[in-house]
Amino acid sequence: MEDPNFWHNKWETNIIGFHQDSYHNALVKYWSDFNLNNGSGVLVPLCGKTSDMIWLAEQSYRVIGVELSAIAAKDFFVENNIPYEMSTTGQFQKYQGGNITILVGDFFDLTRADIPNVKAVYDRAALIALPDEMRARYTGHLETILSRGTHILLITLAYNQSQMDGPPFSVTGKEVNTAFGTWCEIKQLDTAPPEDFRGIEAVESVYGLRAK
Ligand SMILES: C[S@@+](CC[C@H](N)C(=O)[O-])C[C@H]1O[C@@H](n2cnc3c(N)ncnc32)[C@H](O)[C@@H]1O
Repeated sequence: MEDPNFWHNKWETNIIGFHQDSYHNALVKYWSDFNLNNGSGVLVPLCGKTSDMIWLAEQSYRVIGVELSAIAAKDFFVENNIPYEMSTTGQFQKYQGGNITILVGDFFDLTRADIPNVKAVYDRAALIALPDEMRARYTGHLETILSRGTHILLITLAYNQSQMDGPPFSVTGKEVNTAFGTWCEIKQLDTAPPEDFRGIEAVESVYGLRAK
């Protein structure tokens, strides 16, 4: 895997420019298209301390985030004033408060048994956080652990990679088709320039996928 110290260092030094306090507009706009039952499980890979997990929990879903950094998990619950308990489950340290669980550990250690009743995945800044060769591993691992019919809301960013080193890395529509096309139905829901991306020309795309 990419050196986990890269991310641990970001959290220890609080250099987390990727974090947003407001809910992502694509989540709010498109999530209801999935028509999930109340109480369904939602997996948020590489979740950081995103407040999007609060939004999902408020819609009555059971959220399971997966995150390398224990700092992110603790900050999430403390900053949102959610009392939490800690325990160990499999390869993960489990932080649980209300209907939100954050499994602290390596996403690539996640198994089907860790995510019972997960009906949907929310990927914002997860796929695009990973370098080229790891992205293929990430999508391959998702394919292994998700059941048929699982929905995925995927938000990507594409730009000229020679203009900047990632993360975030550029992920084109062609790559999305290659990585997911064999095992998912793919619907492109939106595409527009992001609000602000370091002065570089970029396009943010939103996809609704469904494992077939
Ligand atoms: C770019 S941040 C995005 C966080 C979150 N999705 C958001 O929108 O704010 C990527 C996160 O993935 C975590 N991460 C990176 N590799 C991971 C891995 N293999 N397993 C679990 N978490 C990982 C990092 O610690 C970091 O918090």
